[in-house]
Amino acid sequence: MSATHPSFLAVRELRKHYGSIKAVDGISFDVGPSEIVGVIGPNGCGKTTLFNSILGQIEPTSGTVSFCEESITGKSPLDLSRRGIGRTFQSLQVFGKLSVRDNLLIAGQEFVGTMGRRLWMRPDAGLGERADELLELFHLKKVANKEAGCLAYGQQKLIDVAMAFMPAPRLVLLDEPCAGINASMVDELREILVTLNSTHGGSYVVIEHNMDFIMKLCPHIICMLEGRLLAEGTPEQIRADKHVLEAYLGN
Ligand SMILES: Nc1ncnc2c1ncn2[C@@H]1O[C@H](COP(=O)(O)OP(=O)(O)OP(=O)(O)O)[C@@H](O)[C@H]1O
Ligand SMILES: [Mg+2]
Repeated sequence: MSATHPSFLAVRELRKHYGSIKAVDGISFDVGPSEIVGVIGPNGCGKTTLFNSILGQIEPTSGTVSFCEESITGKSPLDLSRRGIGRTFQSLQVFGKLSVRDNLLIAGQEFVGTMGRRLWMRPDAGLGERADELLELFHLKKVANKEAGCLAYGQQKLIDVAMAFMPAPRLVLLDEPCAGINASMVDELREILVTLNSTHGGSYVVIEHNMDFIMKLCPHIICMLEGRLLAEGTPEQIRADKHVLEAYLGN
């Protein structure tokens, strides 16, 4: 896979050490344009730290990250979001007191251009159409005007993911989007991501413990163990990998 698209997102020998804890310890992988990559591995193996090191949330100990052939190592989250890179967090990040639609509008605010343009545009800064499109796709239209905090956890999780797509990102990193949502919603979310990917393009990197979701969604999977890359390949290759079975799927 790395040979096909070496330059969209390229992570090279990335490390994040906390004293003697090697949370991420020399990870390299590539993500191609419009590719969906899954990241699996047992609790505490460094998946979230990998995302945080890629996305400027924490400073990596060493290694490099480049996006579209430009170095983004250590760049701020704001800088990265302006380059078209978005993320979701492992924990829910919605504004509970705002309506579902306003949550989406806020998530797009940073990307509508200059202050002058924002001042002279419609009150929703032109983001309404995009918000409505995503509300429809994420099956949130009926609850668009409800307070987000009053909805079931699963629906709030969908809002969280939809918010990441408001700026029409070129790359999105999703940290456990299925955590806490029921099986039918997991299938729904997978279908939504497939639709978004095929209609709007964009690459996704998805951390998940839900194997069924990852195996069906991601043609390219990396498996981590203790901060390192244990295996990389197609779902079939990962399923058949002796080390993965021992370290993770066998658990
Ligand atoms: N700020 C920190 N200081 C010290 N150790 C940390 C810090 N952040 C993470 N770690 C350690 O780094 C390791 C990797 O943690 P991380 O949260 O990245 O794992 P994870 O694969 O995302 O786990 P999970 O599947 O449970 O979300 C763990 O041992 C964790 O305790
Ligand atoms: Mg994590």
